[in-house]
Amino acid sequence: MKALVINGPNINMVGIREPAIYGSDSYQDILALCEAAGKEFGFEAVETFQSNHEGAIIDRIQEAYGTIDGIVINPAAYTHTSVGILDALKAVSIPAVEVHISAVDQREEFRQISYAGMACFARVIGEGIEGYRHALQILADHLKQ
Ligand code: DQA
Repeated sequence: MKALVINGPNINMVGIREPAIYGSDSYQDILALCEAAGKEFGFEAVETFQSNHEGAIIDRIQEAYGTIDGIVINPAAYTHTSVGILDALKAVSIPAVEVHISAVDQREEFRQISYAGMACFARVIGEGIEGYRHALQILADHLKQ
């Protein structure tokens, strides 16, 4: 069971960017949390990937085909705009969980649409960086079924 955690634009700035919304933990803290959660939930490996570029995220999703069993994805701002990321997730058909650090459902109207979420079987929002642990737990439960 191998997982891939994908983070989109500006998630590398978590801890610095808008701490009132995203908290004070850093991207490195997210990586450490994902590694620990991977072990806790029985993943053989948890690979991580962050990019500020839509095409690079699409490339990484395509590369996951045949090598990765499940994806946790926070497409960040591309959540609300990218049909390309939605199509890539659909193309590879790898079970995916959408995660957002903030409670996007309680924020601006433009954050209410999630394209990538249309290809995900579960959604974790507003749990801070702990949401990544929760998403990996949901993914592990799903893959073990
Ligand atoms: C986010 C929410 C998005 O609306 C925003 O563009 C982000 C982060 C979150 O994790 O809460 O960059 O995906």
